[in-house]
Amino acid sequence: MTSPAQPRIFVTGATGQLGRLVIGALLRSVPATRIVAGVRRTDSDAARDLAALGVELRIADYSRPETLAPAFAGVDRLLLISSSEIGQRTAQHRNVIEAATRVGVGLIAYTSLLRADVSPLALAQEHRETEAILRASGTPFVLLRNGWYTENYAASIAPALAHGVFIGCAGEGRIASAARADYAEAAAAVLTGEDHAGRVYELAGDDAYTLGQFAAAIGEAAGRKIDYQNLPEADFAAALVRAGLPDGFAALLADSDAGAAKGALFDNGLQLRALIGRPTTPYEVTIAQTWATLAALSSAE
Ligand SMILES: NC(=O)c1ccc[n+]([C@@H]2O[C@H](COP(=O)([O-])OP(=O)(O)OC[C@H]3O[C@@H](n4cnc5c(N)ncnc54)[C@H](OP(=O)(O)O)[C@@H]3O)[C@@H](O)[C@H]2O)c1
Repeated sequence: MTSPAQPRIFVTGATGQLGRLVIGALLRSVPATRIVAGVRRTDSDAARDLAALGVELRIADYSRPETLAPAFAGVDRLLLISSSEIGQRTAQHRNVIEAATRVGVGLIAYTSLLRADVSPLALAQEHRETEAILRASGTPFVLLRNGWYTENYAASIAPALAHGVFIGCAGEGRIASAARADYAEAAAAVLTGEDHAGRVYELAGDDAYTLGQFAAAIGEAAGRKIDYQNLPEADFAAALVRAGLPDGFAALLADSDAGAAKGALFDNGLQLRALIGRPTTPYEVTIAQTWATLAALSSAE
């Protein structure tokens, strides 16, 4: 990859949880003046927080192509954080990739999904389509095929404590998740490093666990026994709907757990660790952090 000595780096979806962590990680080695945060609106709290860090904000809405080429003007490297609007993502990502290609962005890094090319997860389809668009674009690109965030499962710690049971349908499948911050650091390393164009990184945590082990670790943190109850996929999806999730999202989460049962969220290539130059965050640490936050909240009530 040929690139200017001081490339300007653009992060889309910068107000999201991953985006904010990427900006934070970039700021550890890059002056704020070289970072541009892509946002849908500039008047949100998250956008204001980013502006307070000294990074430039530009409107970049995946669904409004007219915002994208102007946003990417003068940008050398772009992180396309996959959209959270499932079902619309291929068209949205196409808009981003076409605009970036039109204005001559030198490198697109895309947050894909672990082994997106062969993954049985329903979520993989839009990532496969996006990867194909990138390949056809002619713009140099690098794939950050992110595994599961440990936070996805940590979000179920509160209900597990309320019911004394952690439910899922991943069976004995081993899950090599990592903390969102680990993936953010990897993205920052790729955006600030050299010779990443053309690479495909399969990113996952150093250690893997079953959901039974995850439930046991919640119990350790909370000082009481939490069992794991493995459900048929349809029953798990129904339980998620009863807990308030929309039908489609519940089905996707259950499908992902069913994929995990077949090993779709397992990886032992240690590529994330290599990119960030340190071990990934153990799932027990994410559980302990979540437990401490929940305990602090309940004692403040
Ligand atoms: N690997 C995993 O386990 C995992 C888990 C969940 C999600 N993901 C994927 O990883 C992405 C980042 O995760 P996250 O935790 O940061 O998700 P998040 O907190 O929901 O952030 C999603 C970001 O996408 C932005 N976005 C959505 N629609 C957009 C549009 N039309 N134009 C521009 N920006 C748009 C959001 O903007 P606003 O702030 O304006 O809403 C937000 O900044 C997700 O979007 C999803 O594709 C991966």
